[in-house]
Amino acid sequence: MSDQTAIESVLTEERVFPPPPEFAANAHIKSFEEYEKLYAEAADDPAGFWAKQAEALHWFKKWDTVLKWKEPFAEWFVGGKLNISYNCLDRHLTTSRKNKAAIIWEGETGEIKTITYLQLHQEVSRFANVLKSLGVKTGDRVALYMPLVPALAVAMLACARIGATHTVIFGGFSADAIRDRVNDCQCKVIVTADGGYRRGSEIRLKDVVDEAVEHCPDVTDVVVYQRTGSQIKMRPGRDHWWHELTKTVDADCPAEELDSEHPLYILYTSGTTGKPKGILHTTGGYLTQTVYTSKVIFDLKDEDIYWCTADIGWVTGHSYVVYGPLANGATVFMYEGAPNHPAPDRFWDIIERHKITIFYTAPTAIRAFIKWGEQHPLKHDLTSLRLLGTVGEPINPEAWMWYHQIIGKGNCPIVDTWWQTETGSAMISPLPGATPTVPGTATRPLPGIVVDVVTKSGKPVGPGEGGYLVIKHPWPSMLRTLWGDDERYKQAYWSEIPGMYFAGDGARRDKHGYFWIMGRVDDVINVSGHRLGTAEIESALVSHEAVAEAAVVGRPDELKGQAIAAFVTLEGGRTGNDELKDALRTHVAHEIGALAKPDDIRFTDALPKTRSGKIMRRLLRELASGGHVAGDVTTLEDLSVLEKLREDEE
Ligand code: PRX
Repeated sequence: MSDQTAIESVLTEERVFPPPPEFAANAHIKSFEEYEKLYAEAADDPAGFWAKQAEALHWFKKWDTVLKWKEPFAEWFVGGKLNISYNCLDRHLTTSRKNKAAIIWEGETGEIKTITYLQLHQEVSRFANVLKSLGVKTGDRVALYMPLVPALAVAMLACARIGATHTVIFGGFSADAIRDRVNDCQCKVIVTADGGYRRGSEIRLKDVVDEAVEHCPDVTDVVVYQRTGSQIKMRPGRDHWWHELTKTVDADCPAEELDSEHPLYILYTSGTTGKPKGILHTTGGYLTQTVYTSKVIFDLKDEDIYWCTADIGWVTGHSYVVYGPLANGATVFMYEGAPNHPAPDRFWDIIERHKITIFYTAPTAIRAFIKWGEQHPLKHDLTSLRLLGTVGEPINPEAWMWYHQIIGKGNCPIVDTWWQTETGSAMISPLPGATPTVPGTATRPLPGIVVDVVTKSGKPVGPGEGGYLVIKHPWPSMLRTLWGDDERYKQAYWSEIPGMYFAGDGARRDKHGYFWIMGRVDDVINVSGHRLGTAEIESALVSHEAVAEAAVVGRPDELKGQAIAAFVTLEGGRTGNDELKDALRTHVAHEIGALAKPDDIRFTDALPKTRSGKIMRRLLRELASGGHVAGDVTTLEDLSVLEKLREDEE
């Protein structure tokens, strides 16, 4: 870190930062008393509270029942009819927002595009007609594998307009990952691009889709958005250029009146076992909570230029780049590329040039900024900023302080938002005009959200004690199930702790009722804010012909939060060397994507196992972290395996 001693020395977790008075005076929620009053009202009557928030949306037909709850299945705003694309677009066209910028986009290569609400409405309607012309109907699934360009938001909103369920696949995933996701939810159409730019090079997306689609029997059509203009293969009959198809249709496509519980999207995420889980989000409840949280957490105003740096391939991009902010009529800024291209000040340069007012990013990015040095932000005028946010993993107080002082100049509240792909929108977060913040804590649950820290049997723990973070009451933007697998949904989220939702985080609550998230308690690694299942990485490793068995664990990493350490045993006769390590890394990147590449690979003769044959990951985790194996080893079947691993360590 460059010259940060002055900041480090003031780091104590007891420091409290009340909302700046001028901020509070103009905020949607203006004081802690107001928050507490809202929280109490919502706790008394959750259905009434959420119904009030749902009234902020446009409904073609109002709901009959706010919540039907048959644990663990929820239906929100039953009987209501609405359309998310209508809520994000059409209803702004009769207001002064009609010619306001909906999206301001900057490509990595420097070009800038501004799209007004009126223009976005036209583009979305046109593309919705394109989808219809390819035979896509309400209820069909469409996969989107694209760079971070406005066309991705257009494609999502076009799906929502006609009631097709989209599944966005992060542009860094491999052909195999696309194949698994597309087949799991039987997509008919894939929308992609020739490529995109990242750190100065072209990522050739269409080539990856070509490889995947060979093994996707349900896919009839591939639509290709032209971003880079480079040479790609187009298969006649199957592949079509976006810009050619849009010329063949008109821009009139009324939004379908959809049931509140109509499936909006499926987003795949890692769990503890097996294949990725298809998290299903629906329409009315999802939009209600994303709209409410966008408004109160980001304190969105018409004058704001709001920038959430997440890729749209993750849930943060769905809820807080596209749906939440657009339904609020905000101006959303999007940037296609890497934060350090062409230089480590790209983000700060963007903030200065576009006069960004709200900036929402991830702790892993903040740690990278700290490493690159404060001279980069200090070169730029960042005074347009009024609010900062983080999401994805616990933020270490040191990074929080740097963010507060170097980026926010001590004037901007920081909203540390805790949530998950499954929760759909933020659950625990400060409200910037109301909640005094403390570095490292996501503070209090939002009104209408009931969370607790409990023991394995579901008993609340005392202040300051660690336990399992659970949600005790259904919430509107909760996942409804796992696509096509109600049983796995029950098992994964509702079986561990009786009567409560539990998705894998440990936490403690301090005496002020603030929640401190302690990270994952399951076999999921949080790499740069993205959940990766160890099981998937292990099966990718084992699918290499040289590998007999593999165990993957996380170890702390200064930049990424967690790094991936793999312990690998080889097939008889094979010996491990650096060349094989490289080959295995490349293999994992090919099977899953570069994000999942192991940082460390260690070859070993055997893995430490219990007598029942379960790999003792805790021991491996301790070893990988460079520490000593301190805990109990009595269940270990063969102590010599551990001795051997320790020797290798020395
Ligand atoms: O462990 C928590 C961590 O990220 C997990 C959810 O990951 P994902 O579904 O990929 O969604 C990421 C973006 C919402 C959580 O179970 N996490 C997320 N936000 C925070 C966090 N940990 C601590 N503090 C946060 N603010």
